[in-house]
Amino acid sequence: MKKYRLALVGATGLVGRTVIKVLEEKKLPIEKYCFFSSNKSSGSKINFLGSEYIVKELKEDSFDEGFDYAIFCAGGSVSKKYAKIAVAKGVTVIDNSSIFRMDKNVPLVVPEVNFEDALNNRGIIANPNCSTIQAVVALKPLDDKYKIKRIIYSTYQAVSGAGQKGIEDFERTSKGLSNQKFTYPIYNNCIPHIDDFLDDGYTKEEMKMINETKKILHNKRIKVTATTVRVPVLNSHSESINVEFKNEIDIDEIKKLLSCSPGIILEDDIKNNKYPLASNSSGSDYVYVGRIRRDYTVKNGINMWVVADNIRKGAASNAVQILERLIK
Ligand SMILES: NC(=O)c1ccc[n+]([C@@H]2O[C@H](COP(=O)([O-])OP(=O)(O)OC[C@H]3O[C@@H](n4cnc5c(N)ncnc54)[C@H](OP(=O)(O)O)[C@@H]3O)[C@@H](O)[C@H]2O)c1
Repeated sequence: MKKYRLALVGATGLVGRTVIKVLEEKKLPIEKYCFFSSNKSSGSKINFLGSEYIVKELKEDSFDEGFDYAIFCAGGSVSKKYAKIAVAKGVTVIDNSSIFRMDKNVPLVVPEVNFEDALNNRGIIANPNCSTIQAVVALKPLDDKYKIKRIIYSTYQAVSGAGQKGIEDFERTSKGLSNQKFTYPIYNNCIPHIDDFLDDGYTKEEMKMINETKKILHNKRIKVTATTVRVPVLNSHSESINVEFKNEIDIDEIKKLLSCSPGIILEDDIKNNKYPLASNSSGSDYVYVGRIRRDYTVKNGINMWVVADNIRKGAASNAVQILERLIK
């Protein structure tokens, strides 16, 4: 069996450290690993699969060592500068930043939804936004069967979605210290402001959900709107998703369909107060779906509650799952 060589860029960050955890669990046929960070964490040690690795500073010649794949999780500016350098050296890049996601030459991939797109890559494959990934895992089987007309997203996003600094801001403000990452203290607050505002009043995070959903589902005509909100939850994003379909729906059939669709765990037993919770989904690679009920304001509509670990399925695990399928 062929063995591969993998570079991990941003290995010391929240997503990078989780990629390492997921790689340890998966034991892929990889013979060489290299971990990169900025100058700040270079020289630090990572214990991985029984060996000690020294983190190296990412430089323009870092990819000269020879890699088959690289997972980037160091932010947009790093991806913008270094992904193309890696591709020029023959490396296939799986990128966690938003920089290439809407590039028509870059597939935007969630393995349960559109893995085939990854096979048409030109060196870069983009990992979607964390809040988009969990949504489309739940929406894809419904779209296949009932044809989605319109989606309304309302998100409740964990502080870990803003990286290590987001977690630190939650801890600081919960002790009464000043906020450094979010615009307001996140403790005791819901902040309807994720990423920058655009001229029309939407945030970039909201537009990511809108545009990425259409790209992944291969349907520009689906109408999508979104309100994205940061909430004082450490990990796992929760989403209320309202969907209107073209075809006639049946709620029991929808539950049955979702319960046997890839990557989904149906948790919908209101008699026993069972529905998805951020605290229960943390540490899992599944997307949890519940509170499925008819939206009586339209002919064929539903509301559902969708929860997933934003660092694992929303970033690290999705990237490693893409790698795993490419290697297979
Ligand atoms: N958090 C989420 O839920 C989530 C979900 C989906 C996608 N993402 C995306 O994943 C990426 C990483 O997010 P994160 O939450 O893990 O951020 P983070 O905790 O702030 O980690 C950033 C990582 O990037 C490294 N880095 C920074 N500047 C660098 C440079 N010039 N060269 C090389 N490495 C550099 C950092 O190294 P040092 O330790 O040396 O600073 C660190 O390893 C971002 O693009 C983010 O948008 C995050």
